Amino acid sequence: MNARLGVLISGRGSNLHAIIDAIQAGCLDAEISIVISNCANATGLERARSAGILTKVLDHRDYRNKESYDHALTSELLKYDVGLVCLAGFMKIVGPKMLRAFPSAILNIHPSLLPSFPGLEPQRQACDYGVKLSGATVHIVTEALDAGPIVLQAVVPVLDDDTPETLTSRILIEEHRLYPEAIARILDGRCRLEGRRYFRA
Ligand code: GRF
Repeated sequence: MNARLGVLISGRGSNLHAIIDAIQAGCLDAEISIVISNCANATGLERARSAGILTKVLDHRDYRNKESYDHALTSELLKYDVGLVCLAGFMKIVGPKMLRAFPSAILNIHPSLLPSFPGLEPQRQACDYGVKLSGATVHIVTEALDAGPIVLQAVVPVLDDDTPETLTSRILIEEHRLYPEAIARILDGRCRLEGRRYFRA
């Protein structure tokens, strides 16, 4: 697979940071072609710029509707010859045009053990439910929210005194290890998709 990444963010960008670090450390054989944010003040943009990576702000509010935003995002990613799209805290739903342009080539990271707790505030959902284990999931993006084939997962215990905030911090440590590893496996063919299951090749 083409190892040119397009990373989409909306905020802090700590997963973007982890991907940049993994590339710089030689643990991930990839190149980030472009970082796109839908928010001009996303702090992750600064990290990308200081690493010399091209950034672009595509603010969804500047577009008439979801279709035109989907079109703009997809065109931008294709323009920079992106092979794998990595959502890293990107808070917009991926549209059908992008899904068609990048079949099985859009990844997302979600801070729960999917299929438990999809959607918003999964760490709060985990604490409220009272589960004893949670974690992080890297999965392929499909039209169904947080429901695509799972590439890798990491387990994080939920402690008795955890709050959504403390659980978030501990899950994030695992996310930063997991996301570069999942990207590396997809790119170097160590993962093989059969139906909706990924197997180690
Ligand atoms: C992470 O917890 C990720 O799993 C979720 O959004 C958060 C983004 O954090 N999708 P960051 O912007 O990468 O720091």
